[in-house]
Amino acid sequence: MCGIVGYVGPQDAPPLLIEGLARLEYRGYDSAGLAVLTDRDKLRVVKRAGRVRDLVEHLPPGFGGHTGIGHTRWATHGPATDVNAHPHTDATGRVAVVHNGILDNAYELRARLAADGVELVSDTDTEVIAHLVGRSQAATLQEKVAEALGQVHGTWGLAVLHADHPGEIVAARNGSPLILGVGNGEMYVASDLAAIVRHTTTVVLLDDGELASVTERGFSTTGGKAAAEIDVDPAAYETGEHESFMLKEILEQPETAARVLQGRLDDRFGTTHLGGLEMTPHESRAFRRVKVLGCGSAYYVGEMGAGLIEELARIPAHAEPASEFRYRNPIVERDTLYVAVSQSGETLDTLLAVEEIKRKGGRVIGLVNVVGSAIARACDGGIYLHAGPEVAVASTKAVTNMFLGFALLALHLGRVRDLSVADGKRLVAGLEALPDQIAEILERQDELAEVADELAKAESLFFIGRVRGYPVAREGAQKFKEISYRHAEAYPASELKHGPLALISPTMPTVVIVPDDDLASRNVGALEEIAARGGPLVVITQPGVDLGGVQVTRIDVPASEVELAPILLTIPLQLLAYRAALALGHDIDKPRNLAKSVTVE
Ligand code: AGP
Repeated sequence: MCGIVGYVGPQDAPPLLIEGLARLEYRGYDSAGLAVLTDRDKLRVVKRAGRVRDLVEHLPPGFGGHTGIGHTRWATHGPATDVNAHPHTDATGRVAVVHNGILDNAYELRARLAADGVELVSDTDTEVIAHLVGRSQAATLQEKVAEALGQVHGTWGLAVLHADHPGEIVAARNGSPLILGVGNGEMYVASDLAAIVRHTTTVVLLDDGELASVTERGFSTTGGKAAAEIDVDPAAYETGEHESFMLKEILEQPETAARVLQGRLDDRFGTTHLGGLEMTPHESRAFRRVKVLGCGSAYYVGEMGAGLIEELARIPAHAEPASEFRYRNPIVERDTLYVAVSQSGETLDTLLAVEEIKRKGGRVIGLVNVVGSAIARACDGGIYLHAGPEVAVASTKAVTNMFLGFALLALHLGRVRDLSVADGKRLVAGLEALPDQIAEILERQDELAEVADELAKAESLFFIGRVRGYPVAREGAQKFKEISYRHAEAYPASELKHGPLALISPTMPTVVIVPDDDLASRNVGALEEIAARGGPLVVITQPGVDLGGVQVTRIDVPASEVELAPILLTIPLQLLAYRAALALGHDIDKPRNLAKSVTVE
């Protein structure tokens, strides 16, 4: 949720740190700060509530040094204020710490430090670490940090500077990602590749429980790690010609959708090749149920996926928010296949759900985008989504690839059961056609601008759908509310008459999802009910659907295999949300109160 960057080397650290922080802002953006060790081994800190650009405006003249750390924050402990911003320092002002994660015993440690006469100036848990490092009598900085971390419980990705240990950063990871970047006579520390990818692609991925000491001469880690080159295109972290990451990521979907399917479809036998599942056909057949877990959009696409699995494999499949599952002492069954879905692979609620399932002996596979992320590592196998880095808080291309990951899984589970070769081949062909069909929708994006402008005027909107259309409506409402800040609520179409119909009026538009399936005529009934009460209607549908004489704004996506319709129907909803937020003048990539990865409980 927050971002960390560190630098040690011959260059002046602040400009590099600022650039890194700006690239990390999507992870959290309510305050930012820097600490540097000056050439006279003095520690200087600047931090402020607000964006990185606010910090830049307040950098004092001559703020420089060759060793520094920076942080961009998404508040958890204490409001977003200058004092609560990171870095935090110890009582002597010689230690600075930036930290992602949460300390569970911060309250006890604060009380203990206060009883020892330490004055704590912030509301944060992180400040405790700075004091503990500052009070340590250990010889090396790494030993000081290890001693401090021995007293705290919780999660951390952190970086520490100490004026008594010039030219060194100590980094540590436990539950919150942290990497080292190896440059030429210089080193970086970062919570995310985005911060350093323009400078180096030679990295060290720290493991949980690992510490590292970093100087311009190199690094050492307690796990004895070596650096490795990673295959990543730095342009993936730039908006390029686009005005926002969200638009860029929406437009990338034909290409990214093709990537998740590549090499995984078997035309001849109408099935899939999913080596990453680490499952024999015999094992795949043995599951009697599927349970999908994810949060937010990953949960909604999990509902679409559960529907696909039920249809194709004819085994009961159900999705649940991972954030609920983990709190309710879940019954974990041996013959249930658990599927964790996550773009980032870091979402703590999903990670903890996976860990709980594993503690109880269940088998979990992951549909994860970020390779080597915590959730991917915790699962027994899975399907990587290959959507490439997703930076916009509002998830689009990863959602599409999650759906396609589910389609691959459902096809696999179906074909080891009773799905015929003919149906398998039909779906393989349908999947192969999807990237071009997505491109077709995107080519017509300007047609949606006017509709979006109208929707943006409404304070409140409904999104409705039936059976396979309902999770699409949920995802549509989610995207709309995230970036337009309008009240967008999803309902199953058939539930309207059980209550929500009371809200329908000429100022309350309803976006209706109508796939070309055997329920289309029932959806027309819902349209009539809404129209009769003067409610404006936007219908996302497919060419074969007859909407009767109801007055609606109609948006068609291409005809598809019926099981695959949900993802095509989702694409215009991304565009509507994007265009509405644009019309309202919102910061598309950094919506208020949100952050890209939710790594706290
Ligand atoms: C999606 O637009 C949201 N920003 C959010 O709901 C997100 O899908 C959720 O937090 C899960 O994230 P994950 O996929 O990284 O686990």
